[in-house]
Amino acid sequence: MDAVAARRARPRAGALDGQAIEFDRVTIARGGRTVLGDISLAIRPGEFVAILGPNGAGKTTLLQAVLGLLQPIAGDIRIFGTKPRRASRAAGYLPQQRMAVAELPLRGWDFVASALNGERWGLPLIGGNGRRQVDQALETVAAGALAARSLCELSGGELQRLLLAQALLGRPKLLLLDEPLISLDPHFQQAVVALVKEIQQSCGMTVLFTAHDLNPLLGAVDRVLYLGNGKAALGVVDEVITGDVLSALYRMPIEVLRVNGRILVVAGHGPVETEAHRHDAYGQDAHGHDARPQNV
Ligand SMILES: Nc1ncnc2c1ncn2[C@@H]1O[C@H](COP(=O)(O)OP(=O)(O)OP(=O)(O)O)[C@@H](O)[C@H]1O
Ligand SMILES: [Mg+2]
Repeated sequence: MDAVAARRARPRAGALDGQAIEFDRVTIARGGRTVLGDISLAIRPGEFVAILGPNGAGKTTLLQAVLGLLQPIAGDIRIFGTKPRRASRAAGYLPQQRMAVAELPLRGWDFVASALNGERWGLPLIGGNGRRQVDQALETVAAGALAARSLCELSGGELQRLLLAQALLGRPKLLLLDEPLISLDPHFQQAVVALVKEIQQSCGMTVLFTAHDLNPLLGAVDRVLYLGNGKAALGVVDEVITGDVLSALYRMPIEVLRVNGRILVVAGHGPVETEAHRHDAYGQDAHGHDARPQNV
């Protein structure tokens, strides 16, 4: 990372008090390989931050570290001033891996309820307070009408709303959403972004939202956290999504074009497609991951 990006990713001295998320010189390795190297950053309570970067950049890894599911090999992570594991109760999490959900023989209400008490796939015994939490979460995502329907009857967008309701149970202070827009058409993408924005503003939640395309999030995010080659750049869109910062992160020449209010990131070989998850269409790195930048 160049000096500019390094400065942006690093919190200002003395800025760490009262932060929602702090990474202080954090290094995380997986399978013997450094995924995030010497990352320092601070995210304020109530911020909506989009996490971007190519396949394998470490977006999911970063969320898992925030939840305390992964331990850094160096550095310190603080969530609302405390260790991640203790803070994870304050977090609602929508995991990226959720393919099997539609197969579950459950009604919408029971599915949301199954996440109470951390028993994600079981059906816990629920008291009045739990029932109220489930009803409230369904209401927040405007999914009351889905409560009585079977999961197998629901569209991808409807399922997504139930998953969001699960993540919102207990009104967490921190909402971690891993690729919530994947497999949604543009209309539903906008609806999910608008919903999350509304929840962030009305509940004062801190939101981390991973994505491959920044465009649906442009009007909603406060800042973006861009990951690449083990490094991070955090800042407002105009600071981070620039040719200089992205070229340093990708270690190749990158241009950023703005067309009709959309942002297009262009590598040396031409425009990068939006559908970042079509792995077959992209070059793959030595780890089998997409080695090219995405349309942000
Ligand atoms: N369980 C694991 N064991 C070993 N390595 C892993 C494991 N999970 C992920 N990795 C590696 O860690 C790196 C970061 O993966 P991660 O899932 O965080 O990337 P990502 O940015 O979320 O990618 P994507 O856009 O594909 O979701 C990758 O190189 C991946 O191969
Ligand atoms: Mg991921």
